[in-house]
Amino acid sequence: MIPVLVTSGKGGVGKTTVAVNLAANLAGRGIRVSLMDADLMAPNTHLFLEVNKERLREAGKMLLPLRVSENLEFMGLGVFIPRGVGVALNYEKTSDFITTLLKFVKWSGDYLIIDAPPGAIDINVRLFKELRGRARAVIVGEPHPFAVEDNLRMLDLLRFFDIEVRALVLNKYGMFSEELARQVVAEYEAYAEKYGFRIVKVPWDTELQTRTKPELFDELAEAVVG
Ligand SMILES: Nc1ncnc2c1ncn2[C@@H]1O[C@H](COP(=O)(O)OP(=O)(O)OP(=O)(O)O)[C@@H](O)[C@H]1O
Ligand SMILES: [Mg+2]
Repeated sequence: MIPVLVTSGKGGVGKTTVAVNLAANLAGRGIRVSLMDADLMAPNTHLFLEVNKERLREAGKMLLPLRVSENLEFMGLGVFIPRGVGVALNYEKTSDFITTLLKFVKWSGDYLIIDAPPGAIDINVRLFKELRGRARAVIVGEPHPFAVEDNLRMLDLLRFFDIEVRALVLNKYGMFSEELARQVVAEYEAYAEKYGFRIVKVPWDTELQTRTKPELFDELAEAVVG
């Protein structure tokens, strides 16, 4: 199984949207895909997939993932946090939880897509250490100059842990000024060439706010599995 981190320098840029659509695209190609929600700040991937939490099942000491479709299974933090209960997740608890999900869920996918927390923060350091030398990564950012600095910091951190960055997604393309977007692309190009990742544009599309559109993610899927 190849872990694929979907990460970003800052929050709210589209990691969950990209992770879910990438997973759906790969599953549509007949690839077996596991999807894990590891975002402690907004563990909401399960809402996107409308998985039924009541179907949680164990197999020996392992927890079975929830089946979404023939080739797609899911497990994540959000499944364990009930509504109506105030839960404050600290670093220790959350990082243990993420490690537990990695180790004690009986994943069966060829690829494990991980919707990761944003930012160069301690929780990501623990996650990257866990996956050192054996994971691929997709960095998600908006095509705006403020995001570049944060994403280059994330690129450095991933490289430090020998995680192979396959693509940088410029998400919500078309929502920002064309001039700014061009500047951002020009700035990333030197790094893309040096480190061998692809710059993939995903358009601003309000339909992505309510449903998956795997057909918009072919280029990203090819960068990840190619
Ligand atoms: N390409 C897009 N076109 C239109 N809306 C988008 C696109 N990508 C993401 N969005 C919307 O932007 C918002 C943030 O996206 P999303 O939740 O995927 O980001 P995130 O990086 O996972 O956020 P967080 O850091 O909070 O986990 C959501 O309302 C989502 O529907
Ligand atoms: Mg998210």
